Amino acid sequence: MAEPGIIIRPAEPEDIDRIMSLEQGSIAHPWDRKEIAALVSSANKKCLVLQYEDRVVSYAGAEMVLDECNIGNIVTDREYRGRGFASALMAALLEELAKSGIAKVFLEVEFDNAPAIALYERVGFERYGQRRDYYGKGRDAVLMSKALC
Ligand SMILES: CC(C)(COP(=O)(O)OP(=O)(O)OC[C@H]1O[C@@H](n2cnc3c(N)ncnc32)[C@H](O)[C@@H]1OP(=O)(O)O)[C@@H](O)C(=O)NCCC(=O)NCCS
Repeated sequence: MAEPGIIIRPAEPEDIDRIMSLEQGSIAHPWDRKEIAALVSSANKKCLVLQYEDRVVSYAGAEMVLDECNIGNIVTDREYRGRGFASALMAALLEELAKSGIAKVFLEVEFDNAPAIALYERVGFERYGQRRDYYGKGRDAVLMSKALC
């Protein structure tokens, strides 16, 4: 369960540097500034940040196409993991997506990323396939989806 005192809000251009540092601290192939700027400002994308004690500690980004959506990333600052922040952020993102008319959400995750797979299963995502070598040789992706209505 997330702690009290958190704020979840849409990302703003002022958050781009912080989102970049979250990416760089946690993702093997982090998105560049241009990609994050597009995530923050495009009408067909959604980017939420979770603020704890005035610091952005978690963020999630998604791209919508018609009534479907792909969650591209979710990251929590290493120092703040295991406190329910990504779960709270994911719940807020799914609620936002449902309000925007999204019927189904998809994502892919590296096969051995246990914390992320556990997080996604916890909020109701189910596995529907696997993409061989998606992240490099021997690094398969697990494909997951969740219906919102
Ligand atoms: C995946 C990630 C976003 C989870 O963030 P978090 O804020 O620590 O997540 P939460 O505290 O909300 O935990 C949610 C669930 O994840 C699972 N989880 C969290 N840390 C875990 C760990 N070290 N091992 C296994 N499961 C773990 C648990 O099931 C947990 O639910 P529980 O609290 O009921 O046990 C975080 O580990 C991260 O930033 N990882 C690097 C970036 C990444 O791989 N993103 C996903 C790319 S597809």
